[in-house]
Amino acid sequence: MSRTMKFLRTLAVAAFAAPLASFASGPELHLDKAPVSFENKSLQNGAKLFVNYCLNCHGASYLRYNRLKDIGLTEDQIRDNLMFTADKVGEQMKVALQRDEAKQWFGVAPPDLTVIARARASEFGSGADWLYTYLRSFYHDEKRPTGWNNVVFENVGMPHVLWELQGEQVAKFAEKDDGHGNKTKHFEGFELVKPGKMDKAQFDQNVADLVSFIVWMGEPAQQTRKQIGFFVIAVLSLLALVSFLLKKAYWKDVH
Ligand code: HEC
Repeated sequence: MSRTMKFLRTLAVAAFAAPLASFASGPELHLDKAPVSFENKSLQNGAKLFVNYCLNCHGASYLRYNRLKDIGLTEDQIRDNLMFTADKVGEQMKVALQRDEAKQWFGVAPPDLTVIARARASEFGSGADWLYTYLRSFYHDEKRPTGWNNVVFENVGMPHVLWELQGEQVAKFAEKDDGHGNKTKHFEGFELVKPGKMDKAQFDQNVADLVSFIVWMGEPAQQTRKQIGFFVIAVLSLLALVSFLLKKAYWKDVH
């Protein structure tokens, strides 16, 4: 098969598979709207939760600790409260865990989270809403090796790391028959079986702050890129102007 043919075939497969895949993940997937806030207070709380509860497994390797000055923290605050995986504030937010070890424990290596909000946005429209729903949708499930499952990420390899805060919930499912003998599981709601340290409103607020921070994390890189872009355009325009003036000067006597 020629290269072009192969390419066309891949395109065709992708075009057909894409709608199927999104269909399979379910029209019943309902996402809660994330009350995202980019106020420093929310972002700082989010950063604190992130380094305490997520950075043991997930890296945010495109973000350097000293970037946290952008959300109103001083270098001392960053060093004393948030740096567990680095010695210098110029270092990236690297993960504490070894990648291959993690893979052994969870079956999958926890992905880097720097741009996760944008990655999920391409799939679900809003990365923030997906994250906000995901982090609040863990439920107790004996059948899973970690003891946890998730309504928006079935058979997820990640345990419910915020369970002490949220408490322990179970999910109620109803079976639905489509009239042709095909049974589908339908999510009906959660039931809190063991309360956590926070009530629902507090927990939701904290998850919202965490999600805000994760969304913010994907942005600084984008802003730098934009700045570089403007700089490049400015330099090119200047060069164009200079060469235009030079051309005028050189051809002045020819006419
Ligand atoms: C004990 C290790 C561990 C901790 C701590 C942890 N995770 Fe995870 N996480 C995982 C693993 C493993 C996966 C991969 C799950 C899979 O693909 O089945 C994952 C997946 C995810 C995903 C889905 C990524 C995707 O594929 O889209 C998100 C989002 C996520 N984690 C966010 C968080 C956040 C936020 C925290 C902190 C509150 C956190 N995780 C803490 C292990 C962890």
